[in-house]
Amino acid sequence: MTTPKNFILLAFLFLPFTFSFAQKWATPEVEKRVNELISQMDLETEKLPLTGGAAWMNTFGIERLHIPQLNTADGPQGIGANGNAPAYPAGILLAATWNREIAYKYGHSLANDAKARGIHILLGPGVNIYRAPMCGRNFEYFGEDPLLAAQTTVNYIKGVQENGVMATVKHFVANNQEYARNKVSSDVDERTLNEIYFPAFKAAVQEAEVGAVMSSYNPLNGEYTVTDKWLLIDVLRKQWGFKGVHMSDWRSAEFSACEDLAKNGLDLDMPGREFMTVDCLKRMLAENKISEETINEKVRNFLRPMIGMGFYDKGKNGQLDKSIPSDNPQSNQTALEVAREGIVLLKNTDNILPVNTKKVRTIAVVGQNATRFLCGGGSGKTSPFHTISMLGGIRSIATQYNINVKFVEEYSHMHNELFIEKGSKTAGLKGEYFDNPDLKGKPAATQIDPYIDYDWKAVPNVPTSRRENFSVRWTGVFRTPNAGIYEFTIGGDDGYRLYIDDELICDEWKEGGFRTRSRKKTIKANTDYKIQIDYLQKGGEAYIEFTNKKTDANYFVDQLNASDLVIACFGYNSKNEGEGADRPFELPETEQKLINEVCKTKTPVVGIVTVGGNVEMQSWEPKLKGLLWAWYPGQEGGTAIAEILFGKINPSGKLPVTFEKRWADNPVYNSYYDSDGDKHVKYTEGIFVGYRGYDKLKREVQYPFGFGLSYSTFELNDLKISGKNTDITISCTLKNTSKKAGAQVVQLYAGKRGGSTIERPLQELKGFEKVYLKPGESKVVTIKLNKDAFSYYNINKKDFEVDPGEYEIVLGFSSRDKKLSENILITR
Ligand code: BGC
Repeated sequence: MTTPKNFILLAFLFLPFTFSFAQKWATPEVEKRVNELISQMDLETEKLPLTGGAAWMNTFGIERLHIPQLNTADGPQGIGANGNAPAYPAGILLAATWNREIAYKYGHSLANDAKARGIHILLGPGVNIYRAPMCGRNFEYFGEDPLLAAQTTVNYIKGVQENGVMATVKHFVANNQEYARNKVSSDVDERTLNEIYFPAFKAAVQEAEVGAVMSSYNPLNGEYTVTDKWLLIDVLRKQWGFKGVHMSDWRSAEFSACEDLAKNGLDLDMPGREFMTVDCLKRMLAENKISEETINEKVRNFLRPMIGMGFYDKGKNGQLDKSIPSDNPQSNQTALEVAREGIVLLKNTDNILPVNTKKVRTIAVVGQNATRFLCGGGSGKTSPFHTISMLGGIRSIATQYNINVKFVEEYSHMHNELFIEKGSKTAGLKGEYFDNPDLKGKPAATQIDPYIDYDWKAVPNVPTSRRENFSVRWTGVFRTPNAGIYEFTIGGDDGYRLYIDDELICDEWKEGGFRTRSRKKTIKANTDYKIQIDYLQKGGEAYIEFTNKKTDANYFVDQLNASDLVIACFGYNSKNEGEGADRPFELPETEQKLINEVCKTKTPVVGIVTVGGNVEMQSWEPKLKGLLWAWYPGQEGGTAIAEILFGKINPSGKLPVTFEKRWADNPVYNSYYDSDGDKHVKYTEGIFVGYRGYDKLKREVQYPFGFGLSYSTFELNDLKISGKNTDITISCTLKNTSKKAGAQVVQLYAGKRGGSTIERPLQELKGFEKVYLKPGESKVVTIKLNKDAFSYYNINKKDFEVDPGEYEIVLGFSSRDKKLSENILITR
């Protein structure tokens, strides 16, 4: 979508790039240079080490030949290396923008951030298809539909690569769940792979000319993808013509034999060349099990994009562009613009939104999410330099209208109720930080911490010398003027112990993921209660949080009742949704409790949910007046959300996934978990994933694919179809029938009618256009189709072919909101 305002911005930001073509980095000239370089290389000391990483995030460099070490960094939604970086909204929010230009801009800004840090290879985008809401990495990906995912992917990659950084499309392929991700095989038939799971990867290779492909952790049809010859050689290289480097996911080669890795298409064993080792390659060469030409091929695949994208010529340190600020205002602006376009308004009963600034005088904001930077966890997590929380965003707009904003805590971090010792007026707890996991010896550092809510990946200021294997002891007292029954809760990853008045309240002193423990206690007013918290960090994520909540009847709801509008911020965060594990379909228990408690108020409630996909909402959604799906909105998310709440921005995000009512309604319900424990999950639903499946099963859904409300109203008229057979142009007129400027996404679905020799979906997304319209304005929207829109994958021919017959062309505003349609006849 190009709004007049952001067109100027786009032109300003991208002028040198807007008219350039995708880099053609695999040219004959590059090939010649690659081969010349290879001819000068020593097999054992130079070629072999080049087939793996030299460190966690670097490839091997050869000074003698001026081959630089390449620096890689996650990806996909911000640079995850070298400290803080601009943090963009999650991939799923990007897909929810349905805006190709903004996807390009997202990639472009990421490339700037990468160059500001000397990064050559960005480990993104992640493009696996969303099958089920629980997958821990859905937030990084682009939703359930292959066309939307492919177009988002292509524009993201072009944005990255046309700006001088190599992109890596990952995780190839069928890494659609995170539970037991490197143990359970995804068993997917060939047609389904080609129609659903391959398109984003194929488009990355063929349309965006991606430089790197990262295979996945999981086996595919029983074979680890990192050694799947059919996938890596027959499909990726021969069918699609991929010329770049295939790297393993980090340590994913662990379960494969070195011989298989060497022979079946792995170029770069990341991160540390641990599994396709130099010794093993040497042995295979000596025993004639592998030829030098196979090694040359791996090196060629790596050097080709390295030379073609200019990294070789830039030389050592040449990728670092000091003219780009690391906290780049342009990147921050991109993060804001993406968030504005990808947050989805799902419910707006009685036009509760935008906030009526004349009538609403007091807003109660609830939920700890309102004060936090929210993103998914794992390698996709970014630590921003600064962030605007929802509460901050809401406050800054509300003050313009003299609206009072109260943050009503359902639980508190005891900001002014913790003191360093008995009788003391110095707020906070005394923190002693130990350089060992056992609280042994003299602390490496001591400081006063005002309250306990640490996430040491996002706030890298542990005052010990390390971020792993350390421990902390906090001591002090709790004192409050408000007597009552309080519930104290402690949560952490890894271990913790809580003592109140020397009584051991909970003991979780062991390694493990995030978990919480609570205990109620009657508290007298103005009385000191001794507090001691011990914290243990072994490795991985490092969190600790200590809160309490006054549980006396109505205390919380009374405060909500005293306001004119409640904005409830709840959902998931990086502690409980991320790489390496799945999450439940339900909200986390604390969040369920919160929203159910909030819904007891008489005041109208607007919910803002942060999460990577759908969640169970039957108990609370009907009670809300408004519902905004924020996904993970990035560092500027608080501003974008507030702008939408107050009508400064008209929401235009559309769901890139179907929201089911119940998990059991999902077409993959019986084929998601490895319920028989045989380490295989058969994708029995085949191509009927997402709306394709719900349509086939004629199932009602909570919110359909493509759905999202606007403050404007739109009409679609004048459907016209011209052209010949499969090459057709579809046009229609979109009119903004409201008094508010806004954007709508015209979605084109095509569906085979009147039978087919092969089962086809009732409809499939084949085109879309996001259009910005002033009040009362109309525009003609044109979408072109070609044979791809009428084809299916024929497994006998091993190719796509046109399925002739009658098709219904449907135009609408979601997969379940048909506005116009016409049937056409397609011949072969
Ligand atoms: C993830 C990749 C990531 C890599 C490097 C792996 O655990 O699966 O997506 O790029 O780590 O951080």
